[in-house]
Amino acid sequence: MISFSVAMDPNKGIGIRGSLPWHLKDELKLFKSNTLYKNIVMGQTTYDTLPNKLADRYITVISLDPEYNPADVKVENDLIAFLEEHKDDETEYIICGGASIYRQSYPYCRKAYVSFIKDVYEVDTRFESFDLSDWNITREVEYPDFIYRELERKEEN
Ligand SMILES: NC(=O)c1ccc[n+]([C@@H]2O[C@H](COP(=O)([O-])OP(=O)(O)OC[C@H]3O[C@@H](n4cnc5c(N)ncnc54)[C@H](OP(=O)(O)O)[C@@H]3O)[C@@H](O)[C@H]2O)c1
Repeated sequence: MISFSVAMDPNKGIGIRGSLPWHLKDELKLFKSNTLYKNIVMGQTTYDTLPNKLADRYITVISLDPEYNPADVKVENDLIAFLEEHKDDETEYIICGGASIYRQSYPYCRKAYVSFIKDVYEVDTRFESFDLSDWNITREVEYPDFIYRELERKEEN
């Protein structure tokens, strides 16, 4: 099963100059608890700009560069082949960005973990294809700076 985890502002903003537009400790803690000891998948740009390497997670990095080979992660050169291969697995693969990886993975995702940031930020990167009407909300928790929602994709008619 493919899912995604994202934090976005009210205009679907997710990034600025290669990093997150905000620094929200509660949101980072939530991301950690949702992904610990799980399979997570992210684009090369996002992986290379992480301030700290993410411990205790099984990381797959998506890159078009066949020479790209950082330590301790799996690299996949073809995102769509990866999604097709794993979409019906019982094991969950959580897509963790960035923009180009979210956009291409969105149609494959059955679940989502979304932090809806309350304030509007300066951004240069958005998750345009995200549409809340595609989803049922299965859990909701309000924090001072964001509302966290777990989502399941609505059945197609
Ligand atoms: N708010 C959040 O929750 C959140 C989470 C993660 C990231 N972000 C933000 O998102 C931004 C980065 O997003 P981004 O779109 O620039 O980068 P990205 O999605 O992290 O990485 C794109 C990488 O994947 C490669 N790629 C793209 N499509 C591919 C495919 N089909 N098969 C194989 N490789 C493929 C690209 O290669 P080429 O370069 O050769 O095309 C590039 O190396 C940052 O600002 C980051 O902070 C936000």
